[in-house]
Formats: sequence, C-alpha cells, structure tokens
Amino acid sequence: MQIEFKSADGVSHERLIEAFTNGYQRYFVSVALNQKILLHMIRADSVDLPSSLVAMNGDKIIGLAAIARRGWTSRLAAMGIVPEFRGKKIGTALLKRALDDARGRGERAMVLETIEQNEPARRLYQAAGFKTVRRLVGYACANVAPAPDSALDEIDPLDVSERVAQWSMPDLPWQIAPQTLAAMNPPHRGYGLGPAFALLTDPFANPITLRSLVVDPFKRKQGWATRLVRALAAAFPEKTWRFSAHVPEEIPFQFFNSLGFEKDKRTQLKMERSLLV
Ligand SMILES: CC(C)(COP(=O)(O)OP(=O)(O)OC[C@H]1O[C@@H](n2cnc3c(N)ncnc32)[C@H](O)[C@@H]1OP(=O)(O)O)[C@@H](O)C(=O)NCCC(=O)NCCS
Repeated sequence: MQIEFKSADGVSHERLIEAFTNGYQRYFVSVALNQKILLHMIRADSVDLPSSLVAMNGDKIIGLAAIARRGWTSRLAAMGIVPEFRGKKIGTALLKRALDDARGRGERAMVLETIEQNEPARRLYQAAGFKTVRRLVGYACANVAPAPDSALDEIDPLDVSERVAQWSMPDLPWQIAPQTLAAMNPPHRGYGLGPAFALLTDPFANPITLRSLVVDPFKRKQGWATRLVRALAAAFPEKTWRFSAHVPEEIPFQFFNSLGFEKDKRTQLKMERSLLV
C-alpha cells in the first residue's frame, strides 16, 4: 500500500470538502462541510491550507489533517481517515508529519480539541505526546427565565472579543479564543449589559449559541451575567440557548445550573503537545 502525504495547497476546495466528509464518516456527529464552512474555517479559525496535509493513495485522498496557525502555535483543526484505511497507522504517520512540519516552521506547540469519548482519536493523540490541558463542557437550556431589561445594549461583536482578550482566562480553546471571536460578523451579534458582555450566533435562528459570556473581573459574583442571559432570553423568546462544548470545566457549574442549563453528555478535551521537546 503506497501512501503519500502532500500539502493541501493547490487541492481544489471541492476535493477538500469531499476528503473532509469522507474522513469524518461514522463520526459522533454528522459532519457536513460545504464551501461556506470551509471558507469560514480558513478566515475565522486561521486554517492554513499550505500547512494542511492530505494523505493520498494513488490519486485518491484517503485522509486529511487541517492545520490552523497563530503565532508560535498551530492547531490540529481536523483529522480524518476514510473508514477503510483506519486502524493501519496512517493517522499516526500523518500526525507525525504534521508535528514535524510545525517544528520545521519554528512553532512551539500544537493544540487540539477532541471529543473525550472518541477513543481512537484520544489514543492517537496521547501516543503522539499530546497532554490533556483541561476538559471542556457544553450546556443547553430550552426555558431560560426571561427578564426584560432596558439596560441591554447591542454592541459591535468586535468589542466583545476585546473584552474577552482583556478579562477572560488565558489559554481558551481556539474556537472561543478572542482571535476567533474577532472574526465573528453579523448575523452574529454582540450585547452588553453593565459590565457583562455576550457574543451570540444569529438570534433569529434556533438554537442560539452563546459563543462568549464575560464579566469585568471586578464586578463578578454580583449577578450581572445572569441578568444579561435573562435579558437576552426576553429579547429573543422561545429559543433554546446553548454553549458548545468549549466551556472550560473550571467555570462553576452552579452558574449554568441556576439559569436552568443542563450539561451535555459529550465532553471535549483540550490537548497540547510541546514542540520544544
Ligand atoms: C481518529 C483517526 C483519525 C485515527 O486514524 P487511524 O489511521 O485509524 O489511526 P491509527 O491506525 O494510526 O491508530 C491510532 C490509535 O487509534 C487506535 N484505534 C484505531 N481504530 C480504533 C478503533 N476502532 N477503536 C479503538 N481504537 C482504535 C489504534 O489502536 C491506535 O492506538 P494504539 O497506538 O494505542 O494502538 C480515525 O479513526 C478517524 O478518521 N476517525 C474519524 C474522524 C475522527 O474521529 N477524527 C478525530 C477528530 S478529533
């Protein structure tokens, strides 16, 4: 079996979308990539096609490793091998090549997020030297108690990303890092209420995902985030509200619980591999 790895640069978007879809067959959730999502990954998540890799068997793409890059860090943004080629150590070799390339570019770490219950992926990453940094959890609530509030203000989503950069914990998962949030345009929306700020997906769709929620550190534990979420629930009634599984586990469950949110069953792990050792 002859397998070759090559840069995804120059591979047509149509073929990449197909490779992505095929590599994520029999996955936990159905992955339906399209041109719009691919372009969003390139723009918002900093996916770098020249650094991304495809695995070829002849002229057939049988796997891919999408690589995003920011400063000294790269991120394994997607990794998939078509089902008939799984379990043959192709994932192991592809990941080794991605790590070698990143080291060769002078980067210092590679990060990723993976579904904790995805045993093959977790084993692959651990064997390649990735260590768990933190568990990430998601929440959902279909009946947030609404509380109309005249202090609720729509603001530029970019302003929310700046507050997150200033006030949030360092080392957030890539999907909710301030650099990712800074690329969120309408129909995403930003809101502020006093010292509390939120960035949400299109509020006219259902569910609405809260991509970020942040409060001035000097004004915490005074109910501002709760007031903001309830005001949003009043502004956009009868919606299910979600936090994707990107929320660091150390953020107190009590906050989500008191608003009626329930924890998702599926969790993610943020993992990191130093490239200095
Ligand atoms: C995860 C994935 C990329 C691994 O690629 P692969 O080429 O099959 O992996 P390898 O053959 O190199 O094996 C890597 C590890 O996974 C384990 N593994 C492979 N298939 C497995 C299975 N069905 N069940 C349990 N473990 C499995 C291997 O045993 C190996 O671990 P080990 O070294 O401890 O034995 C592949 O399973 C896949 O594409 N899955 C669907 C997409 C996905 O989950 N992507 C990851 C998103 S974070």
